Amino acid sequence: MPSFSQPTILMCPPDHYGIEYEINPWMSRTRASDANRARAQWRSLFEMLEQLGVDLQRQPAVPGLPDLVFTANAGLIWHSTVFLSRFRHAPRQGETEQDATWFSDRGWNTIELPPGWDFEGAGDALFCGDTLFGGYLIRSDAGALQWLARQIGCRVIPLQLVDPCYYHLDTCFCPLAPGAAIYYPPAFDDYGLAALRDIVPDLIAVEPAEAARFACNAVVVGRHVVLNTGCPQLEAALRGRGFTPHATDLGEFIKAGGSAKCLTLRLDGEDAAVWP
Ligand code: ARG
Repeated sequence: MPSFSQPTILMCPPDHYGIEYEINPWMSRTRASDANRARAQWRSLFEMLEQLGVDLQRQPAVPGLPDLVFTANAGLIWHSTVFLSRFRHAPRQGETEQDATWFSDRGWNTIELPPGWDFEGAGDALFCGDTLFGGYLIRSDAGALQWLARQIGCRVIPLQLVDPCYYHLDTCFCPLAPGAAIYYPPAFDDYGLAALRDIVPDLIAVEPAEAARFACNAVVVGRHVVLNTGCPQLEAALRGRGFTPHATDLGEFIKAGGSAKCLTLRLDGEDAAVWP
C-alpha cells in the first residue's frame, strides 16, 4: 500500500513526446514540438515542484505513446485506489496498460471501469471539498462519472463541456481549496455554471486570453499555484486571496493541449479534496 509523508506527484519525462496525431483543436502535426525545449520546460516544472516540497515520482516514457507525459490522465486517485482511465481516442488507449503496471507494481489497488464507458482520469474528475466534479461529453461519459461516485460514496456533479478547446475539465476548472476554485465560464453550459456557482462559493473567473494560456490548468500545492506564463490577471487574483503563483513556460506542451496540471498526477490527494 502506498503511504506518503509529503505532497507526492507523478510525472513522466517527455522522452517520447511529440505531436504525432490530432485529437483536440490545439494539436496540429504541422506545429511540431521542439524536443530540447520540451525537455527543458518539463525539467523546470519538475524542479519548481521539488522546491515547493513535493516528492516527485517518475513513470518511464514509452516509445509510441507521446501523450503519456500527461500523467493526469492515468486515472482518478482515491486513497490507495486508482480508477484507471479508458481513453476515447485509439492513439492513447495503449497508455492504460502502462499505467496499470506502474500502479499495481507499487501496491495500489487498480480498478477498471465497467465496459462501454470512457473516462480520462484526473483530467475529467476533480474533487473540490467532498464533491467530485466531472467533465463529460468530449472525453469522458457521464455514466462513468456516476459509477465512480457510487464506488466512492460521494456526491458527483457532472459538468457538460461545451467548447472543444476545453475538452478536459482540468483545462477549465481548478479547485484551490474546499469551497474555492478557478474556472473559465464559457466552457460550461448554464446548468453547469449554476451548479458550480451554487456549490463553490469562491470562484475566480479567468479571461478568454488567459484561459487560452491554460490558466485553469494549474497545480496547487498548499498555498502555492504553479501555472503557465502569460496569466497576469489570474496571478493577481490568486495573490489577492493569499495564494502564491509561480509561472513557468510550458509552451511546448500547450501544442498538445496540455499544461502544468496535465503533466502531473497528485498521488496523496489534492489539497482541495476532502475524501469520504
Ligand atoms: N494531447 C492530449 C490529449 O488530447 C493532451 C492531454 C492533456 N491532459 C489533460 N489532463 N488535460 O489527450
